[in-house]
Amino acid sequence: MTSNEAATPAGAAAASDTGAGTEGPLPFDTSVAHQARVYDYLLGGKDNYAVDRAWAQATLEIWPGMAFTARANRAFLGRAVRYLAGEAGIRQFLDIGTGIPTAGNTHQVAQEIAPESRVVYTDYDPVVLAHARALLTSSEAGATDYIDADLRDTGNILTKAAQLLDFTKPVAVTLLLILPAIPDSDDPHAIVARLMDAVPSGSYLVITHGGSDLIEQQQRQNLDRSWSGKIQQQLTWRTHEQVARFFEGTDLVEPGLVPVEEWRQQPASGNADKSALWAAVGRKR
Ligand SMILES: C[S@@+](CC[C@H](N)C(=O)[O-])C[C@H]1O[C@@H](n2cnc3c(N)ncnc32)[C@H](O)[C@@H]1O
Repeated sequence: MTSNEAATPAGAAAASDTGAGTEGPLPFDTSVAHQARVYDYLLGGKDNYAVDRAWAQATLEIWPGMAFTARANRAFLGRAVRYLAGEAGIRQFLDIGTGIPTAGNTHQVAQEIAPESRVVYTDYDPVVLAHARALLTSSEAGATDYIDADLRDTGNILTKAAQLLDFTKPVAVTLLLILPAIPDSDDPHAIVARLMDAVPSGSYLVITHGGSDLIEQQQRQNLDRSWSGKIQQQLTWRTHEQVARFFEGTDLVEPGLVPVEEWRQQPASGNADKSALWAAVGRKR
């Protein structure tokens, strides 16, 4: 990821050469790593290419904590969706930046608690689109849909999502590990505000995001150098304060904006590993 605290790293310029920053579905490209395929590799999936594995291995040499960070993010998805479908009583989900389907997709977790849950998935990677059928396996009482779109094409996503979701009733908008792929030049805060403007009071916002203040500066600079031109997305680290700003207009559910592994973690997990991700769930006022 690039940090917007530091001077623009070499990776940012090289990434835009590969198409990052251009709105629209991604091309299928095996000459550079893709975020969705790298994440799949880190979670033990098979939908990745040599270029994704090489990127992951080079990154793990600099930042061995990346593997734990990916697993902790996916575990958080389960805890957050269980909280929303259970305690919070949410029945509608808009999951943007879905990733390649794996165990515990949003609709599976939600429908285990509330079979009538409706879930709309959105991603812009052609490999996710190719596997979208695995996301369209709703319970009979509920429903799922898939939109092939770029988060920055926000109006289009909202229009299509409204075919399945009732925007007069609360919706949980989940943006897990997608906002790092939206550079400041595309104003991610305005995109999140637009999404949250479209849903009523009592809706929820869920975000995980790489924290520039959760990783050593030298390590981050080494990563930015190593990533230069090797991954499709231009990845941006953000501080606790910058991530907190996404939640303006919401009240954070306890324990607030914390490292992802600390959010309502099972007390007995006993794991001392540390991620580099901030995570929170906010309820719209
Ligand atoms: C690291 S994966 C996270 C998957 C899932 N949300 C999770 O947390 O388990 C990030 C996903 O966001 C998608 N993504 C990144 N930028 C995007 C954009 N501008 N529009 C739509 N999807 C995007 C990538 O293709 C990838 O599948």
